[in-house]
Amino acid sequence: MWICPNCAQGLAIEEGYRLVCLAGHSFDVAKEGYVNLLSVNRKGSQEPGDSKEMIAARRRVHGAGLYDSLAQAMRVLLQESRQPVAAAADLGCGEGYYTHAISEAFPAAEIYGIDIAKPAVRLAAKRYREGHFAVASAFDIPLAENSMDLAISVFAPLDPAQLCRLLRPGGLYLKVTPAANHLWQLRELLYDQPRQHAVESQQLASFELLHEEVVEYTLALSGELLRDVVAMTPYAHRGQRENRNVLEALEQLDLGMAFTLTLQRYQP
Ligand SMILES: C[S@@+](CC[C@H](N)C(=O)[O-])C[C@H]1O[C@@H](n2cnc3c(N)ncnc32)[C@H](O)[C@@H]1O
Ligand SMILES: [Zn+2]
Repeated sequence: MWICPNCAQGLAIEEGYRLVCLAGHSFDVAKEGYVNLLSVNRKGSQEPGDSKEMIAARRRVHGAGLYDSLAQAMRVLLQESRQPVAAAADLGCGEGYYTHAISEAFPAAEIYGIDIAKPAVRLAAKRYREGHFAVASAFDIPLAENSMDLAISVFAPLDPAQLCRLLRPGGLYLKVTPAANHLWQLRELLYDQPRQHAVESQQLASFELLHEEVVEYTLALSGELLRDVVAMTPYAHRGQRENRNVLEALEQLDLGMAFTLTLQRYQP
């Protein structure tokens, strides 16, 4: 289902380790199983996307189960939609935690994950062998038009035009964003005058809103996990210096997690 980033023709596997299109453009499959389909003009910087440190912190945080309740809520919502899903894509998949969650919800489906950060895609492909992973931009997705029954975007940038190209009519789109009070205690620590997250509507043109819910829970975090949560977010470099020092020294914090799940159906 991958398409060539140069000419948009379908890519087929050749000799088990290379994807080639009819025009002869070819892309090696890395030993972890992913393929790099990021066109040079989309790269933007030497190492686009999240850094290795952020990705490693995110993997530890997911491994510790801090986002299990979110993944569970996503699975339940998708299964309750009763949508038949034969192919699904995770746009901005990071190290693959939610790509795996959708493969659990739809075990027979072909699952695709893309992210612009190569180290993230490498980790995802290595662990989640059931998925197909590529380094690619969410603004130039190397998947065929009308090919997906479901797309998800979890805390990642999205291009609505690309989403419409990808989804078949009637296909589902699940977006997860931080809700107003997400990580509130962290913001209280970092800022003298903390503010709530600005929450923007995720409703897209040509989509029917099916369901919206806020998932909230509180975690009792060790200092170590707290610092991993900070390292995987934009808070890694924010807040006044004295406040950061307090954060660095904390041994425990009750931290509120709050997410908005928005499920929409593509109705062109
Ligand atoms: C906050 S992380 C979320 C990752 C994953 N969805 C998760 O929740 O674990 C945002 C991700 O978007 C990726 N990203 C940033 N810009 C991107 C782009 N233009 N195309 C694809 N991915 C992008 C980053 O590399 C990063 O992995
Ligand atoms: Zn080509």
